[in-house]
Amino acid sequence: KIIVLDYGSQYNQLITRRIREFGVFSELLSHRITAEEIKEMQPKGIILSGGPNSVYDDGSFGIDEAIFDLGIPVLGICYGMQLMTHRLGGSVEAAKNKEYGKAELEVLAADAALFQHTPAKQTVWMSHGDLVTKAPEGFSIVGTSKDCPIASIENTERKMYGVQFHPEVRHSEHGNDLLKNFALTVCGCKGDWSMENFIDMQVKAIREKVGDKKVLLGLSGGVDSSVVGVLLQKAIGDQLTSIFVDHGLLRKGEADQVMDALGGKFGLNIIKVDAKDRFLSKLAGVSDPEQKRKIIGNEFVYLFDDEATKLAGEEGISFLAQGTLYTDVIESGTETAQTIKSHHNVGGLPEDMQFELIEPLNTLFKDEVRALGTELGMPDSIVWRQPFPGPGLGIRVLGELTEEKLTIVRDSDAILREEIAAAGLDRDIWQYFTVLPGIRSVGVMGDGRTYDYTVGIRAVTSIDGMTADFARIPWDVLQKISVRIVNEVAHVNRIVYDITSKPPATVEWE
Ligand code: XMP
Repeated sequence: KIIVLDYGSQYNQLITRRIREFGVFSELLSHRITAEEIKEMQPKGIILSGGPNSVYDDGSFGIDEAIFDLGIPVLGICYGMQLMTHRLGGSVEAAKNKEYGKAELEVLAADAALFQHTPAKQTVWMSHGDLVTKAPEGFSIVGTSKDCPIASIENTERKMYGVQFHPEVRHSEHGNDLLKNFALTVCGCKGDWSMENFIDMQVKAIREKVGDKKVLLGLSGGVDSSVVGVLLQKAIGDQLTSIFVDHGLLRKGEADQVMDALGGKFGLNIIKVDAKDRFLSKLAGVSDPEQKRKIIGNEFVYLFDDEATKLAGEEGISFLAQGTLYTDVIESGTETAQTIKSHHNVGGLPEDMQFELIEPLNTLFKDEVRALGTELGMPDSIVWRQPFPGPGLGIRVLGELTEEKLTIVRDSDAILREEIAAAGLDRDIWQYFTVLPGIRSVGVMGDGRTYDYTVGIRAVTSIDGMTADFARIPWDVLQKISVRIVNEVAHVNRIVYDITSKPPATVEWE
């Protein structure tokens, strides 16, 4: 595998990503890692990432210099190249003009290892304020550009390389070839890593870690926790117990689907907690969105705690499994973030309950998790499930919840989902659902006046949920949805389509 040391660049996730795409396992690790720790891991190559610091700044991120003497090939990208240069005796200075954007790189040495099978002139993506003004002893300059004379360096003897530009960014025309040259030719990786290997690797690691102890998993029915469940089931079978809380705010058929698919086909041992009445009675009379969220969140924790305590009391549970993804780990950022996040995820378990965490997905991106689910034989209905908020339909019925209103949202949402799937749009739209704003308006049905509810359709495209645009669902599909909802769901006489993006709106209405 190739390890990438994290110096904070916004592109870091992409480096590991690109390398995995050509079949070499790669992961991002803290730059605080020691040479000793790396030696134990036996990676075939080390990449020092870019980052916002200047090597001369106080408190700028450093490196255990013994890493340079391990004999493992090193590639420094942007800040990584500057750091390597600085520590090995070259010079780095502030550039007169900060360079940001496309540049033309000229390859100066036909035999330069990183540029094999790429043209002598190529477009690269630059983003830097400092630059290398003198290469360290033993390094030759193998690439140059107009504003960055020393754009790439190499020391073939020590197998150390540096590039000022960002090969991981798609705008760098041959960036992928460069990373491939480094990983496959320089480092000698085979390029045969795949999801199948990943499963084998994880199954082995989980078995070793867990031994004959017990593991607990909070199953939400979402992609991540479901994949963790199936993976753990494969590794340790009945030593895994999953808890699935049905708070009565799930989508139509969702609880049964989860129980059937995961409990039935995959044989997961799931404790289903039916807590509909408990949630609805706690929520009765509450209309403030934040208060609703808090009540639902807290109740979840109480229930999970109760079940966990019961189980722990009986047979003892040592591990808690979670579907933490790579992006969660990165977004949390700090070295202690993982623990903070986990408490957040499970919502604060009793303090005297000591779990060790198992997070088998924490090196994967969402689409890789989906690929893993498919490789594990999981159905598309789970693997391609759209994101669904923890508070569920509770925040899609605006204001106070009632059984009648929940039924309207649940039934209209089911129709929307059916029609979006029938139109083949379900993988293009990030999230699509209906909301009930609680407005009533006048309509006419048959020969009579109606005074009934308005249902809102919300559909957005997004990469990560942080920003979103409203989806352009074709008119004829919208029309079909509108006609069906009004005809099939009682007490609805009007449909509106939400055409705001995020920001300024949010995806959910509460
Ligand atoms: P907003 O409404 O904040 O939603 O634009 C962004 C994304 O987050 C989901 N969401 C939640 N997910 N618990 C969750 O697990 C929550 O309380 C929650 N609130 C919003 C939302 O569905 C969208 O995908």
